[in-house]
Amino acid sequence: MRVPRHVAIIMDGNGRWAANRGLPRGAGHRAGLKPVRLCIEECARRGVEALTLFAFSSENWKRPITEVGLLMQLFLEALDREIDELATRGVSLRFIGERDGLPAALAERMRAAEARTAANPGLKLVIAVAYGGRWDIVSAARRLATEVRAGALEPGQIDEARFAAALALDGLPEPDLFIRTGGDRRISNFLLWNLAYTELWFSDLLWPEFDGVELERAFADFASRERRFGLTSEQVGAGAC
Ligand code: IPE
Ligand code: IPE
Ligand code: MG
Repeated sequence: MRVPRHVAIIMDGNGRWAANRGLPRGAGHRAGLKPVRLCIEECARRGVEALTLFAFSSENWKRPITEVGLLMQLFLEALDREIDELATRGVSLRFIGERDGLPAALAERMRAAEARTAANPGLKLVIAVAYGGRWDIVSAARRLATEVRAGALEPGQIDEARFAAALALDGLPEPDLFIRTGGDRRISNFLLWNLAYTELWFSDLLWPEFDGVELERAFADFASRERRFGLTSEQVGAGAC
């Protein structure tokens, strides 16, 4: 079975999962940790190179301050709790997103986790926190503009490869498989540039319900797709891509 090199997931539906049980939204966010562990283990086991998880979007800052505070607290606790095991399993961690507004303690743990696991040879785990696809593209444009102003780059040298290298996922293969749980079929400002040719797969399960069976369905569906990248089916059949 063809295995995606890079899987990107929008983990959606925690709040509804909690509401369905008469619980506060935070209970849903807590319950969302189990499928996170499962996806990390399963992706590592299947030989997936990179897994990117959308944990908190640029727009999620607009949620009630109590929920935002709770999420930040949960990220910190989860990182403290999981980092040893992730490091032991050889996972290398990277965070993408705008760090400026994050609580200082969380930003420091993120930095430390990245430094500690940077040389690990296993699964590349990317957590998108305070991330937005538009923010990513604007940041890249700003970086390139700064290089141009410094005289290190000519505008004519900016091509797709150079632009991609200024984005947050630089160095990783583009996502092959995108999964969104929670029933909504939208991108919600996730990896706008990088999803250009990603295979999209949507699950009606709420994130805390996401399990190995559903993940297997996503992988199996991915393996059955013909990826043409603009070519004809005949060209693909002849091995052109
Ligand atoms: C996803 O679940 C987690 C975050 C966005 C932080 P939600 O909190 O969006 O859950 P629903 O979509 O309201 O059910
Ligand atoms: C997307 O979920 C962001 C994350 C899962 C982190 P949202 O719940 O924020 O997306 P919308 O608002 O339904 O589009
Ligand atoms: Mg949601």
